[in-house]
Amino acid sequence: MQASLPSTMTEICISTPGKADVLIPREAEVPLPKPGEVLIRVQAAGVNRPDVLQREGSYPIPPGANPVPGLEVAGTVAALGEGVTTHAIGEDVCALTNGGGYAEYAAVPAGQVLPLPKGVSMVEAAAIPETFFTVWANLFQLGHARRGEVALIHGGTSGIGTTALMLCREFGIRAFATAGGREKCEAIRELGGEAINYRQDSFVEVVLANTEGRGADVILDIMGASYFADNLATLARDGRLLLIGFLGGGIAAHVNLQTIMAKRAIVTGSAMRPRSSQEKAAIAASLREQVWPVLAQGRCLPLIHATYPLARAADAHREMESSQHIGKIVLTV
Ligand SMILES: NC(=O)c1ccc[n+]([C@@H]2O[C@H](COP(=O)([O-])OP(=O)(O)OC[C@H]3O[C@@H](n4cnc5c(N)ncnc54)[C@H](OP(=O)(O)O)[C@@H]3O)[C@@H](O)[C@H]2O)c1
Repeated sequence: MQASLPSTMTEICISTPGKADVLIPREAEVPLPKPGEVLIRVQAAGVNRPDVLQREGSYPIPPGANPVPGLEVAGTVAALGEGVTTHAIGEDVCALTNGGGYAEYAAVPAGQVLPLPKGVSMVEAAAIPETFFTVWANLFQLGHARRGEVALIHGGTSGIGTTALMLCREFGIRAFATAGGREKCEAIRELGGEAINYRQDSFVEVVLANTEGRGADVILDIMGASYFADNLATLARDGRLLLIGFLGGGIAAHVNLQTIMAKRAIVTGSAMRPRSSQEKAAIAASLREQVWPVLAQGRCLPLIHATYPLARAADAHREMESSQHIGKIVLTV
């Protein structure tokens, strides 16, 4: 089933791995939804750090995934693949894609498509899926963060960090968060977090001093190797360390592993992109039940730092790489 569709569209391709100017608009065929897929006429697409890593050639995409960047979109359902009964043509939706979001049309497995939460704009909705799926799957599902616990969120003003802080406040978790400057620390406080400027202070000392030496029950980490020893030192007994990014390297040397045993610590982590459509659909269902009602009440809405037209995706990447942003950067179509 489909509304009348053009045969071609504009998409942004990675012409060759490299700096932001390798992102080039080009004409491509409008994809046809395969059985079980929904075709979305994209109105906004979120930009995420994994897109930058993919563009640089340092994030190999899973086999068979769309090589066009873009992990999340919002828009209107334009066509339904065979067997899809959960969505209707003309419905406003947002979706976690398997790539291909930087385009006028994107085909997405139906289980990864969610209705637009009531009152949420297309730009806001496009900024939700990637970080909400990731934070929910890691901090809450894998990390079992619970009401009354203490969390430490690294990169507190990143897309991931701002989402984690809002969800911690919503679900009654006290959150410390790191950032690299005064303005970013202020933004963390506005999101209900306890800010730590990592350029001035040791997060280990701040968290321990403010929890009577107990530490953090759960840590959401985007740095990897450079923070591994300090993260273990900050964990409370029975604490959980979730590794979801490696901006500080992937190989940790000289780490005292006895800390893991002494604290009964759990060190784990996960990547969203290589998960199966079934796993992503299960996360979507959990978000729809537990987080969509919160969004529809106007809480936990993503912080939009800037928007750029699709054709200026390269400028959006440059802005992300400057690391000056607080919250999300979104492309409009
Ligand atoms: N595992 C998963 O499924 C998954 C999914 C999505 C994202 N991620 C990861 O989560 C992290 C955050 O993603 P995002 O899209 O939220 O990114 P983002 O908005 O660009 O935020 C990254 C932040 O990290 C901080 N940072 C510290 N050291 C850095 C360095 N060496 N290079 C760049 N930034 C540095 C910067 O803030 P300061 O100025 O405070 O340093 C920056 O704003 C990335 O590592 C990404 O790969 C993982």
